[in-house]
Amino acid sequence: MASFSFLLLLLRLSVIFLSLSESTVQILGLGIGINYGQIANNLPSPSRVSFLLRSLNISRVKLYDADPNVLLAFSNTNVEFIIGLGNEYLENMTDPIKAQNWIQQRVQPHISQTKITCITVGNEVFVSNDTSLWSNLLPAMQTIYRTLLNLGLDKQVTVTTAHSLNILANSFPPSAGSFRPDLVQYLQPLLSFHAQVKSPFLINAYPYFAYKDNPSQVSLDYVLFQPNQGFTDPVTNLNYDNMLFAQIDAVYSAIKATGHNNIEVRISETGWPSKGDADEAGATPQNAGFYNGNLLKIMEQKQGTPANPSVPIDIFVFALFNENMKPGPASERNYGLYYPDGNPVYNIGLQGHLPGFEISFASHNIHVNFFACLLQFSDLRNSIMLDLCSTKKLVTLSMEGD
Ligand SMILES: *[C@@H]1O[C@H](CO)[C@@H](O)[C@H](O)[C@H]1NC(C)=O
Ligand SMILES: *[C@@H]1O[C@H](CO)[C@@H](O)[C@H](O)[C@H]1NC(C)=O
Ligand SMILES: *[C@@H]1O[C@H](CO)[C@@H](O)[C@H](O)[C@H]1NC(C)=O
Repeated sequence: MASFSFLLLLLRLSVIFLSLSESTVQILGLGIGINYGQIANNLPSPSRVSFLLRSLNISRVKLYDADPNVLLAFSNTNVEFIIGLGNEYLENMTDPIKAQNWIQQRVQPHISQTKITCITVGNEVFVSNDTSLWSNLLPAMQTIYRTLLNLGLDKQVTVTTAHSLNILANSFPPSAGSFRPDLVQYLQPLLSFHAQVKSPFLINAYPYFAYKDNPSQVSLDYVLFQPNQGFTDPVTNLNYDNMLFAQIDAVYSAIKATGHNNIEVRISETGWPSKGDADEAGATPQNAGFYNGNLLKIMEQKQGTPANPSVPIDIFVFALFNENMKPGPASERNYGLYYPDGNPVYNIGLQGHLPGFEISFASHNIHVNFFACLLQFSDLRNSIMLDLCSTKKLVTLSMEGD
């Protein structure tokens, strides 16, 4: 019985590999990262997602937590992870003992197999009306950093947090970017921390929000990176033909105004919904395809912003999947590049493959046998993915059962 299942599993595997190599006509080398949000009850298992992302050659993933199932599913891959500590952890993470426990339980068990390069401590903390979060943010980041330092992991794993763009009081023109006055007392020391530990300043930036709020005033071409005249910043004389670049440079200006010059701004989230409520202008598959497709081209060309042309923008797209359990307007549940069944929501030339199988442990009796298969399978899968990536050739499997 167990041996028969084993053979059956191998048989199904060979079919999957054949269909993968057919569909992977072109494997793009993308520097782009992707947000792997999981507020949904219908997502494929992390091991299938691992396969999908590697078939896309996407090698940078951002999580909102430190889900051990995901980190395990990507062990021995080249995929790099940003993991997250949710806002609910901030208070505890100001305590060195609790911070050390968290790192030892959630990071250290994975770090020799799975590349964890960054921890975001909190997400959009200043959007919250809970000001105790505001004051715990930096102490929590510092404590996590010191813990990593003590454990010898500080070179491997950087510490940062992700902000909403509404930490800005002014973003137009980009040269006049400035932080909200009520936040400066928090951001000033935070920026000193970034400068000290050399970690990037992360922003979640959504030109979509600006368009949705004001569709008659904001040019769709300008927010979608489509050809347009743009505008010239009167102070710098730099021309901006897309809103995302203007937003990034506004953040650079705001940072500069606090006296810091050597902190890199990166985009921890950006995206465009493919669907929205009736009052959510612009949320269509076509617009989402333009936004994310053009973004991929910009990344491929390694473009920087007008104020920092030599620094290619660093971006994590939001998001990998549509997430059906997200609260709020319909757009919130429709930012995904993929449906949970692995079909792309719109075509932007990303050829990926979500394998159509699931390994499950049907009963305790056959657990051990299946576990043996699983280990063998995951080793094989890694080597086959490498073969596929390096040769782009059809890979066939020939294997014998035990
Ligand atoms: C995969 O992406 C990396 C960079 O992320 C690139 O160097 C490599 O050439 C890509 N591989 C293929 C087969 O496209
Ligand atoms: C914070 O620590 C307390 C006390 O150890 C614990 O009960 C609580 O669950 C922790 N909070 C989180 C979000 O882990
Ligand atoms: C703070 O925000 C929460 C949820 O966002 C809300 O329920 C609560 O009423 C707000 N409190 C204040 C004082 O605004």
